[in-house]
Amino acid sequence: MPVVPLKEILDRAFRERYGVAAINVVNDLTLEAVLAAAVEQRAPLIVQTSVKTVRAIGLDVLFGLWRTMTAGIEVPVSLHLDHCPDRRVISECLRAGWNSVLFDASSRPVAENLRETIEVVAEARAAGAHVEGEIEAITGVEDDVGSDEPGRRESLEVAVDFIRRTGVDVFAPAIGNAHGVYVAEPTLDAQRVSDLVAATGVPVALHGGTGMTTEQFTDLISRGCAKVNISTALKVTFMRSNLDFLRAAEAGGRWDPPSLFRHVSAAVREMAAGYITTFGSAGKAW
Ligand code: 13P
Repeated sequence: MPVVPLKEILDRAFRERYGVAAINVVNDLTLEAVLAAAVEQRAPLIVQTSVKTVRAIGLDVLFGLWRTMTAGIEVPVSLHLDHCPDRRVISECLRAGWNSVLFDASSRPVAENLRETIEVVAEARAAGAHVEGEIEAITGVEDDVGSDEPGRRESLEVAVDFIRRTGVDVFAPAIGNAHGVYVAEPTLDAQRVSDLVAATGVPVALHGGTGMTTEQFTDLISRGCAKVNISTALKVTFMRSNLDFLRAAEAGGRWDPPSLFRHVSAAVREMAAGYITTFGSAGKAW
């Protein structure tokens, strides 16, 4: 099973109430490691790229890595552009072949967000791609996008109206979740997920996955969070495993880059496999 549209992965997960890990990668090593985890676990996977990563690596190089590393892959995988307020980058990624985009106009008035999201959905459809929508900013800065100040909340009616009128394929509500490291266990408004799902039948994207408990994941997934975003855990795993290895290398006076790459890759793979198992998507490849 090669690269598939986002909806193909999400619709089944939503129907069967398991979660698909949507993991932000930062380079070739992390991309390869999360794909390896999905193959090893026989799980579907959504690979996410932030705008920062697209800019840092370069869109063509990044997409080339994706195409090469997913050629002949045996599990369903999809490439998603995370939080993107910039319509130009959205268009470039859709043209290049990303399977879906999160158009993040949550800092703008809902009416303006709605008008532009309708345009993004039309543009994505023409490219055979899907769209995640958002009207409330998720607290926390993720790769230079967002704010640490909790944003405004909209009513359920406003959110339902946005989902219906834009035709987004997946919706990302603010439910007390945040990007980055939680200082205390978050208090989550799980009922909002149930209310949104009951009113729209559209799957929900759970942001700010790093630091949530297994009980929180299980509950939210059972309510319809079919896409579960993880970014900070990968960054921390990547940085810490590099640091641990380099400290040992320095102490032992051994400087062998391939051993470092193997060590970091194994740590990232293990982290991704852990989330895949927790979300119930292991063995769900078709
Ligand atoms: P974390 O950084 O908290 O894992 O959140 C990831 C996310 O929601 C990406 O959009």
